[in-house]
Amino acid sequence: MAKAQQPSAILLFEHVNINVQSWTPEDEKLFYGALGCVRDARTDAVFDRVQMRGGSRKGLQWVNFGLQQFHMPLGEQQNSNQCIRGTVGLAFPSLEAVRQRLCEHEVEFKEEPDGGMKCGWPGPALSLQTPSGQPLRLHSSSARFAPPGAAEAGLLSLPGGPTLSTGMPYLELLCAPGTAAGIGRFYTQMLGALSKVEDGICKVFMGNQAFIFHETPSPDLPPYDGHHVAIYIGNPENGDSSASYAEMYMRCKKAGLVHNNPRFPHTHIHSLEDALRLGEFRVLDLVDPDTGTVVYTLEHEIRSLEHPGFSCKALVKSAM
Ligand SMILES: [Fe+2]
Repeated sequence: MAKAQQPSAILLFEHVNINVQSWTPEDEKLFYGALGCVRDARTDAVFDRVQMRGGSRKGLQWVNFGLQQFHMPLGEQQNSNQCIRGTVGLAFPSLEAVRQRLCEHEVEFKEEPDGGMKCGWPGPALSLQTPSGQPLRLHSSSARFAPPGAAEAGLLSLPGGPTLSTGMPYLELLCAPGTAAGIGRFYTQMLGALSKVEDGICKVFMGNQAFIFHETPSPDLPPYDGHHVAIYIGNPENGDSSASYAEMYMRCKKAGLVHNNPRFPHTHIHSLEDALRLGEFRVLDLVDPDTGTVVYTLEHEIRSLEHPGFSCKALVKSAM
């Protein structure tokens, strides 16, 4: 564990976990047909491990987009169709090519002439919903959403092979009126991320990815349904594989924010030793450090670069 050279920072946003009632031919057609995704090669082994520990799911899909992915446990007993409270941004080298594929696979979508304006991706976009109701927004971009040096090292896809998409550039999340500033303070002070708040919008930066929170009238804000996101903490370039993560864990523990989700008993954390051994801990409530109030609820799976799932371990240099 190297000494951190900079404040704890989010290196990468990696996955969105949404429960889905069942895997339908429409899902197969959308993800593996029109959007050119690849099923992660680790999926079946992960499913078997979870079931051996008493899991209640009926199946599992890990659907890759570049170095990002959807985790979709199937048929969980509760909250069977989950959605983030907003939109998942997806990037493709050619919007025209993906438009054609959507048409060929008879997937409905809408044209958004300036669909990316609010999230900092000006220009045309395509919007659609997954069969279970998750809004997606597709953009044209040749950018890769990966740690520095990943492309040069050939680390552009997760196990299973290359995908048509280059990755997930952002999550656009609806939040309650008056909460954007407090959300920004949470990410900056607790998770060490850069953030910018302006006109009721809070952008949280992680490499060239972002979480973008938009204040919206309360009646339009759906209740939180238990989905989660996963982020990685550290800096491969200076060997910070777990130092910043450990500091972050201690900050979150001191603030009473560490969350043990009953759904994942094997990931319960009671000490720094546990957090380092497992390489992850969870936070559920985003609390404004200035006021102590909960400004957003979204389970974050916060991982060190030593977590077995980290896709770019080859980039981690020796500690300096
Ligand atoms: Fe997860």
